[in-house]
Parts: sequence; structure tokens; C-alpha cells
Amino acid sequence: MRVLVTGGAGYVGAHASVALQQAGHEVVVLDNLSRGCRATLDGIAAISGQQPLFVQGDLRDGALLRRLLREQAIEAVLHFAALKDVSESCQQPLHYYDNNVGGTLSLLQAMMSEGVTRIVFSSSAAVYGHATAVPTPESAPFLATHPYGHSKQVCEQMLLDAAVTGGLQAAVLRYFNPVGAHPSAMIGDMAAASNLLPQIARVAAGLQPYLQVHGQDYPTPDGTGVRDYVHVLDIADAHVQALLQLVRCAGSFTLNLGRGAGLSVLQLVTAFERASGRAVPLRFVPRRAGDVAISCADPANAEVLLGWRAMLGPQRMCEDAWRWQQHRPVRVVN
Ligand SMILES: NC(=O)c1ccc[n+]([C@@H]2O[C@H](COP(=O)([O-])OP(=O)(O)OC[C@H]3O[C@@H](n4cnc5c(N)ncnc54)[C@H](O)[C@@H]3O)[C@@H](O)[C@H]2O)c1
Repeated sequence: MRVLVTGGAGYVGAHASVALQQAGHEVVVLDNLSRGCRATLDGIAAISGQQPLFVQGDLRDGALLRRLLREQAIEAVLHFAALKDVSESCQQPLHYYDNNVGGTLSLLQAMMSEGVTRIVFSSSAAVYGHATAVPTPESAPFLATHPYGHSKQVCEQMLLDAAVTGGLQAAVLRYFNPVGAHPSAMIGDMAAASNLLPQIARVAAGLQPYLQVHGQDYPTPDGTGVRDYVHVLDIADAHVQALLQLVRCAGSFTLNLGRGAGLSVLQLVTAFERASGRAVPLRFVPRRAGDVAISCADPANAEVLLGWRAMLGPQRMCEDAWRWQQHRPVRVVN
């Protein structure tokens, strides 16, 4: 299939682009390079041996989208393009709604007008907020606690409404905590300096003196927060499977993407020290407002519907994150 990948110059979109190409699909990337970078596109080409067609442009440019869908004969869309920084979203909520909700609305309108009906959408465990059940099933209510999470809730609702009335087929994938990088270290997360695993990697590399651990009094086995980390290669693979499922069966679906097993901050640090051979000094600080004690997916439905299960464990996540930390290119502002 010819697939438009929005946000393909970013972290998850780049890994999914490689997975699509390796599964025999043709990839066209649309990205405004507000957060992604050109080096990522070269990384995709170096890994897969195929340079994806790249269009620099913004999702909110409806005329560009319609032309792209038509002229490139796009058959399906994998929609990653969004802003994802939770604290930034609290400072600039309208910017997040404009980019994430406005961008998705513009994309859906263009798809409807050009008769492109299949979309795989990047949602997030952020929609569950302080989840009422852990592990959390897809049926848990929307309880997001910040504008980023709210923007994902609105997008999900728009997709489902358009699926009911507009003939859209949507696969909504709610990622828990994507981590790691391609083992070649040619693509990885250029932006996530505030996420835990990139922070650990920076400390191990000597770029920061210590890791701040927020909270050691949570009701968890060692008192630190527990998250469901899932390797980005597994996430990428789920997108290829979700696309196949949309082709196989009419209809839409929403799935969690996680391992169904949590790791505490201290467990992740220990795994990283083992994988890197470096010490990661810690400093405990108070809890951050809004952080939950435990977040963990119930991923059973993804296995039933897609035959997908996360295959790569903490050791691989840490090894690949460490390799990426050591070899990653410097991000050039575009
Ligand atoms: N990485 C995570 O921890 C995580 C977790 C859950 C969900 N998600 C979701 O997955 C998707 C991909 O995340 P990521 O980690 O790859 O982020 P990323 O920032 O690395 O990539 C997003 C890409 O989208 C582009 N983009 C943003 N707004 C755009 C616009 N209006 N027009 C065109 N391009 C635009 C950026 O330049 C960037 O290259 C996002 O929708 C994010 O919300 C990510």
C-alpha cells in the first residue's frame, strides 16, 4: 500500500516508517519539522534502503493535504504528527488544541474529501489519567489530567464520530511508555529529554550529574512510580498489524499498546546500569503534581485482534537506548 505517515520525521513515526517499508509498503512522510528532523529521514533510508518521499508541511494546511493524498494516490494514513510534551501543554493549552486537534480535524477533512478511509491514530495512555483500574483495559473512562491528554481524547472522539457517519475506518492505538531506539542507532527519540529513560541515559553518559527521582513514597513495592515501558520497535510493528487489520475487516477499533507489566523507576535504573555498565547516581525529590503511582496496560485485546504482543523486554530497551545515547546525531533546527 501507499501510506502517508504524518510526523514520520519524529520518533515513533520513523520507526513505523521503517516497519512499513520492511513489510513491503511505500511510505510518504509529511512533517513540519517543528520537532522532528531531516537526519531522521536519512536514518530511515539507511536502515530500509528506501528513501521515503518527504514533504515538509503542516497538517493544518488542508489544500496541501488534499493535493498530497490525491497526487500520491495515498491508500491509508498513519497519523503520528502531534505535540506531546505534557508540561508544555499545561503552559500553552490552546497551542496544543490548535496543533493536535486542529491538525487531526484538517487531516480527516482532507481524507474524507479525497476518499481515503483508513487511518491508524497515535493515542496515549494519558487519556486514562488516574485510571480506575490497573492494569487498564480500553473500556476505562477518559480521565486525562492535562491539555495534551485532553487533545488526544478529543481526537479519538472525532475519529469515532467520523467512523460512524463518514465511512472512516480508524485504528486508535493507545501507547503506554514507548522507549528504546532502532538497534542501528540511526533513528531514535530526538526530543524526549524529559522522559525517564532518556534522562537515565544522559546521567549514565555524564551529561547530568544525577537522576532526580520524583517520589519514593508511592504505594509500590519500592516506593517509586511504576510505568508500562514498551519498546518502540514493538509499537512500530503494531502499526503494521493494525493497518492489515483495517484492510482485512471493515470497522474501527481501539487498542492498548503496552507489555502489561510495569517497572518502577528503580527497576529501570538497575536494568540500565546492567545494560550500560555505567552507574546512575540518584537524588530523591518530592512527587510531581499529577503523577500517578502505577500505570499499566491490559494489552489482551491487541493480542486477540492483531496477534500482537510486545516481544522486547527491559534489557533490550536499555541496550538500545544506551546505543542511541552514544551515537545519536545532534538535532539541527530546521
Ligand atoms: N513518545 C511517546 O512517549 C508517546 C506516548 C504516547 C503517545 N504518543 C503519540 O505518538 C505520536 C508520535 O510521538 P513521537 O514520540 O514520535 O513524537 P515526536 O515529537 O518525536 O514526533 C512528532 C512529529 O510530528 C511533527 N509534527 C507535529 N505537529 C505537526 C503538524 N502540525 N504538522 C506536521 N507535522 C507535525 C513533528 O515535527 C515531529 O516530527 C504523537 O501523536 C504522540 O502524541 C507518543
